[in-house]
Amino acid sequence: MYICAMQLLDGKATAAHIKEQIKKDTAEHIAKGGKQPHLAAIIVGNNPASEAYVGSKIRTCEELGFGSTLKRFEEDITEEALLDEIRHMNDNDEIDGILVQLPLPKHISDDAVINAIDPGKDVDGFHPVSTGRMVLGQKAYLPATPYGMMLMLKHYNIDTKGMHCVVVGRSNIVGTPMALLMSRNSNPGNATVTLCHRHTKNLKEHCLQADIIVAAVGIPKFITEDMVKEGAIILDVGINRIDDPTRKSGKRLVGDVDFDNVKDKCSYITPVPGGVGLMTICGLMMNTLEAAKEHSNID
Ligand code: GUN
Repeated sequence: MYICAMQLLDGKATAAHIKEQIKKDTAEHIAKGGKQPHLAAIIVGNNPASEAYVGSKIRTCEELGFGSTLKRFEEDITEEALLDEIRHMNDNDEIDGILVQLPLPKHISDDAVINAIDPGKDVDGFHPVSTGRMVLGQKAYLPATPYGMMLMLKHYNIDTKGMHCVVVGRSNIVGTPMALLMSRNSNPGNATVTLCHRHTKNLKEHCLQADIIVAAVGIPKFITEDMVKEGAIILDVGINRIDDPTRKSGKRLVGDVDFDNVKDKCSYITPVPGGVGLMTICGLMMNTLEAAKEHSNID
């Protein structure tokens, strides 16, 4: 029996609130003579998860009053042809933001594709110029998932100053930038950060020290109750599809955290689904509106 009261960090409600704000800002920006934000998305092959994510990004553009372009390519498109398409999008003044949904087929280099995007249109925040600016604390397009988590902490007024944040997973698009953002001199931020990965010894001991755990490993229910300090804050980035014979589809989404057994130990926790995933789109849309403002000749 634990004494602290757990509060859910509700991605649905938070994202709805932030999207309402973006919609309002967009309308004001357009009324002042600014250009309508326009997001171009590229999808290669037919990975069902990528289809779902990109579909949701395009629908959100419509909801917020943004324009959008969706380009689909077969799995066997050459790297050069894909780079050509990106160059066309770079040169198209109508387009403010470009995203190429990952993962890409093995014969295409993620780095070559990311590097080809005009940094001024890099609304995914994956380009080395965006990363460099972020590391230096300059104005930058932040990667959407860490940005979304920062927006969520801010929305709930969680003061992370001086906390110990343990990030589990060091990917370029989530773990590494999240560790950086949490350690920056900002609010949220100002945390002491430990970045753990597959070679970390005594992971459980590190996690038990954490005031905040960011779980981004892509392994279902990886963070268990015995790894969590009472009163900890948990941000669960995992979206894992596991078998569930009780469901009509035979499948169910779970996070990287064993939610049912961990939740009563936490002060705050994000559910899966309905947590961090919904915030990622907010980060992307914030970046796209910002890019449209940069590309408008006003102010
Ligand atoms: N694949 C998983 N997450 C992302 C993301 O945030 N952006 C892109 N482009 N691909 C992804």
